[in-house]
Amino acid sequence: MNSSIKRAEAFCERFGLRVPILLAPMAGASAPSLSIAVAKAGGLGSCGALLMQPHEIVAWSEEVRSKSNGAFQLNTWIPDPAPKRDPTHEMRVREFLEGWGPPVPPEAGSATPPDFNAQCEAMLEAGPPIVSSIMGLFPPKFVAKLKERGITWFANISTVAEARAAEHAGADVIVAQGAEAGGHRGCFDAAKAERQQAGLFALLPAVADAVGVPVVGTGGIADGRGVAAALMLGASAAQIGTGFLRCPEAKIHPSWADALARTAPEDTMVSRVFSGRAGRSIATTYALAATGPEAPHPAPYPVQRGLTAAMRAEGQKEGDIHRMQAWAGQSAALAKAEPAADLTGRLWTDAQALLAG
Ligand SMILES: Cc1cc2nc3c(=O)[nH]c(=O)nc-3n(C[C@H](O)[C@H](O)[C@H](O)COP(=O)(O)O)c2cc1C
Repeated sequence: MNSSIKRAEAFCERFGLRVPILLAPMAGASAPSLSIAVAKAGGLGSCGALLMQPHEIVAWSEEVRSKSNGAFQLNTWIPDPAPKRDPTHEMRVREFLEGWGPPVPPEAGSATPPDFNAQCEAMLEAGPPIVSSIMGLFPPKFVAKLKERGITWFANISTVAEARAAEHAGADVIVAQGAEAGGHRGCFDAAKAERQQAGLFALLPAVADAVGVPVVGTGGIADGRGVAAALMLGASAAQIGTGFLRCPEAKIHPSWADALARTAPEDTMVSRVFSGRAGRSIATTYALAATGPEAPHPAPYPVQRGLTAAMRAEGQKEGDIHRMQAWAGQSAALAKAEPAADLTGRLWTDAQALLAG
């Protein structure tokens, strides 16, 4: 049998999956219904818990576990140190944003995501088979708690050096995120996120050669060809975000789902204009204007996220894609509006045919 298929099958056996297809954790787009559908189809469900309170993390897990076989990962971000505030600069950003949405009060920039340590405790309480990190590494004490409970740690990385550091810190699986990926770039050092944009074709084999633990490929994979390519390049499984967003179970705004279908690879861009952290979105008129020469630099994360909240909420309410946070990977146009179970099954059937042929 093809060695890539064998490697994928070993991964599936270890994690109780029937197909080596992982739904990517997507904060703000992790409807339980999508994970339930993917897990029931033999893949791995997932929750991007960054914006969720501890009780919501536990409730999400209970719902998905009660309606599936319980194959899912919980994911959160490793926090950066608190940003340096600059009220004068923030005022310029607020003035700029008033051209795109409602007035932005000065205190909007003070909004912070839920407490990281409380989220970690909630993830332990929820007792998933897998917990994953992004933007850095879990503290050793938390890693020890995961290991005590038999919870597997998947570490998202975007460079070879980060992969080595994650393996050294005890990560059981490395998730290599290529620059094609939709949403935030998982770089440990936010300042390097735009400069170090390794594409998955280069990153995957380099990471697979650098570490001894299984590697998952993610970023720009959205059909059987991408899954087969990732496996050929050394991955044991493929993790897919944007490719699942048009499934009805994802329940994202229809304007966003429709726009994905029209988005060519070159119609996406990496910028800091939504949250202050680099992320790949559709190149909407706001994203283009906010990166233009006239626009003030975005405030640091998470200040920019707070400052843009009112515009994003209004865009969402009015179905205006140009003012929504329209994250998209470079393969957005491959995403199909079809049930997630059909997609999950076909991704693996098509990949197997290509790998065997
Ligand atoms: C809407 C959206 C939200 C995301 N949120 C998270 C997150 O909270 N945590 C995380 O590890 N990755 C997050 N990501 C990145 C994905 O986990 C994954 O790396 C990416 O979707 C892969 O690229 P693709 O979208 O081309 O499949 C997000 C991606 C998207 C599209």
